[in-house]
Amino acid sequence: MKGLILSGGTGSRLRPITHTSAKQLVPVANKPVLFYAIEAMREAGIKEIGIVVGETKDEIIAAVGDGKSWGLEFTYIEQEAPLGLAHAVKVSKSFLKEDSFVMFLGDNLIKNGIVSLVEEFSRSKPNAQILLAKVKDPSMFGVAELDGKKVIRLVEKPKDPPSDLALVGVYMFDKSIWAAIENIKPSWRNELEITDAIQYLIENGSTVHPHIIEGWWKDTGKLEDMLEANRIILEIMEPRIDGEVDEASQIDGRVVIEKGAVVQNSHIRGPVIIGENAEIIDSFIGPFTSIYFDVSIRHSEVEHSIILEKSRIVGISRLEDSLIGKNVQVEKSPKKPQAYRLMLGDNSQVGVFK
Ligand code: DAU
Repeated sequence: MKGLILSGGTGSRLRPITHTSAKQLVPVANKPVLFYAIEAMREAGIKEIGIVVGETKDEIIAAVGDGKSWGLEFTYIEQEAPLGLAHAVKVSKSFLKEDSFVMFLGDNLIKNGIVSLVEEFSRSKPNAQILLAKVKDPSMFGVAELDGKKVIRLVEKPKDPPSDLALVGVYMFDKSIWAAIENIKPSWRNELEITDAIQYLIENGSTVHPHIIEGWWKDTGKLEDMLEANRIILEIMEPRIDGEVDEASQIDGRVVIEKGAVVQNSHIRGPVIIGENAEIIDSFIGPFTSIYFDVSIRHSEVEHSIILEKSRIVGISRLEDSLIGKNVQVEKSPKKPQAYRLMLGDNSQVGVFK
């Protein structure tokens, strides 16, 4: 069985972060989302993985590497434009050949991994296996209509969803997917939809097994989902302190402090992760916060947030529910008159309290 991870596309819902960076590389608990998909595949015994890349190709390849360090074999597959999930499969034909494969959307995160799902697929050998999860807002996803345990219809982002069962971004296929992809047409959003390809399988006598997942799953495409995924992963990480914490600091609960990080005269209330060579000085870092490498936080309070590499936060009395990009500076300024002085990228969002 092979693996296919989709890491092309654009990240329109995480702009401005994704103006300059691939959405699959935004870190959750200080690890790029995409790495969780690679680890899930490795855990399920999949060795040959195709990674579909688009305009952020160079950045993805630089971050993921050639597979040797993972003990895996990677093949990067270029998709010239994000023309849909089924199109991404289509351009991977020479890698996948006639083999069965697991397809994993590079911005999806499944807490319990895919080991048992791959086993189930290998044992019962349907033509396709789809994962479903109950969601509050089904119209944001592909949605399945079931009759008992049988899938009767799949619709992509329906205005009027037939159920609350969303398609999770992990799919398993055998070679019958190729005929389906050849026979579908681009959708209203001009994409070759994998949802339509699976619908074709249903209508043409192939077996499509649904599996409703119990554990949590997140599509990290939006800020709130990113923060939630971060919260959930932080809650299960093993605490560890490899950096330096001085006597005046207090560390409570589940906290990871990576090597080279320095914590001085600060209070860290877990779950929190502080990346390599970060410095936290005279500050409070509250629960559910990930501080990436080389970040500097001084005289500030930060809670329920993700701060990306090399950013600097100084003199900010409280920052919450925030995703701060790379190399960002948020600093209290002594300049008069007292005012917010901002340099924000396109599509930035700022919430001020007065
Ligand atoms: O997250 C689950 C949902 O993922 C499913 O419920 C939907 O049925 C499915 O269509 C998909 O919807 P999204 O609109 O969230 O897909 P998105 O465009 O975000 O793409 C998912 C991943 O695939 C993302 O990592 C980018 C990558 N991708 C996407 C497209 C359209 C590609 O590599 N190539 C593409 O052409």
